[in-house]
Formats: sequence, structure tokens, C-alpha cells
Amino acid sequence: MITIRGLYKSFDGQPVLKGIDLDIRDNETIVILGPSGQGKTVFIKALVRLLEPDAGTIEYDGVNVVGLTKKAFRDVQKDIAFVFQNSALFDFLTVNDNLSLFLQMHEKITPAEIAEKVSQALAFVGMDNSVLDKFPEELSGGMKKRVAIARAMIKRPKYMFYDEPTTGLDRGSAEKVSELIRMLRGEIAVTSIIVTHDIKLMQDVSDRVALLKDGRIVFVGGKDEISAEMLEFLYETGENNGL
Ligand SMILES: Nc1ncnc2c1ncn2[C@@H]1O[C@H](COP(=O)(O)OP(=O)(O)OP(=O)(O)O)[C@@H](O)[C@H]1O
Ligand SMILES: [Mg+2]
Repeated sequence: MITIRGLYKSFDGQPVLKGIDLDIRDNETIVILGPSGQGKTVFIKALVRLLEPDAGTIEYDGVNVVGLTKKAFRDVQKDIAFVFQNSALFDFLTVNDNLSLFLQMHEKITPAEIAEKVSQALAFVGMDNSVLDKFPEELSGGMKKRVAIARAMIKRPKYMFYDEPTTGLDRGSAEKVSELIRMLRGEIAVTSIIVTHDIKLMQDVSDRVALLKDGRIVFVGGKDEISAEMLEFLYETGENNGL
């Protein structure tokens, strides 16, 4: 469980997060929905400590990670995987190396076991070993995203964070990503935290939804509780409304 209280962050005197309170429950898929420029990426980066908030606490199972040393954070970090908006695969590594890097670094397992885990992860995302020797630039956007999800799940994280997992993908690829997010919840009981402006993604995958507007969470609840009026209110200032 992740408990967020009073999270503030500003840049050059401009507040972006203005006191965010949110509870993320184990094994749920929570979507934080908001238009462009509302601080979604800043928020999710603060949760995984890619940036430090100005104030507030972020507790993973009761351990506040704000201000923790890198070394002390490692214990929590091993449970966390992050799927970046741009997939963030290593361009100079093959798919095989992108997928096996974490296992080579962190686990004492044989090359045969690594190959087996890599194959399984690829199969999970609907790909096969024929892509192992390809470089990311040889893959479509949708395939890159699937490799990024495979790479994230290979460490069997407790928490998976996604920043705009469907942005830039065609409908078919976006639906495949939605399906994977749903499968991960069932198969490895992962807790998924997704920030997006994609209303369809929210409808397809979320157990609960938090609406982010002007640096604050203005609503938390089930997707069925979200009315057209609420979405209109949410997106009224956004230039990229996704509707
Ligand atoms: N490192 C930074 N330095 C200064 N300003 C920043 C920095 N990171 C983000 N911001 C500002 O914070 C605000 C929120 O940015 P953020 O990227 O979190 O928005 P977002 O909701 O993720 O938008 P999008 O949907 O377009 O990805 C923007 O005004 C942005 O310019
Ligand atoms: Mg963003």
C-alpha cells in the first residue's frame, strides 16, 4: 500500500503539485487522469523518487521514502518497475539485452534460466523470440511499448508505474497495452499506477480513478461514478483533451 500525504512540488516558484493526498491499495489498478500539463509526470516521478518533492510524505507499507538515502530506498525500489512514456529502452542494446539486463545485474541465475525468463516475458506480451536480436529502432511504437512492459514485469515487481502507456499508439496497440495491464493484475497480482489523459484507457483498466486538476486530486472513486460533467470540468483548461 502506498500512502501519499500533502505532496507539494514547485518549479521556479510555480506550484505544480499543491498538496496531494492519495491512498493506493495493494493489487488495484489506479488511474490518475488529467489533461496535459497538470503535473501527472511530476507526480509519478515523485512516487518513484526520480524527483524529490518540496514537502509531503510517500509511504510504502508504512515506510516514508521522501528523503531516504539511495541505499535505504533500494529495499523499496526492488519492488518497483516504471514504464516510461517513451518506453525508454536502451537503443544500443538488442531486445534480448534490454530484457535480460536486470536479471544479469540482480539475480544469481544461469544464462539458460535468463533465456527462459526472457522468452516467457516476451510470450506474455504476445511476442516471440524472433525479435530477440532486433534493436529498438527496428520495432514499431506498439512493439516497443510491449517490450518495455515485458522488461518491467520480468523483475516481478509489486508495483508497476506507467506514464501515458497508450500515447502515440494506434487503437489496436493501445488495446493490447490495456489487455496486458489487466492480465498483469490477474497473473502476478501487481499494483498498477497509471497516469494518463486517455479516458478510454481509464475506462478499460481502472479499479479506481483519481482526477488530477490544477495540482490537486479533485475526486477519487470508481469509474462508474465519473460523469460526463466531471470529465468536462476536468478537461476545460486542457489544450490536449483526449475526448
Ligand atoms: N524539471 C522541470 N523543471 C521545470 N518545470 C517543470 C519540470 N518538470 C515539469 N515541469 C512543469 O510542471 C508542469 C507539469 O508538467 P508535467 O510534465 O508533470 O505535466 P503532465 O500532466 O505530465 O503533462 P502531459 O500530459 O503533457 O505529459 C508543467 O508546467 C511543466 O512545465
Ligand atoms: Mg506527462
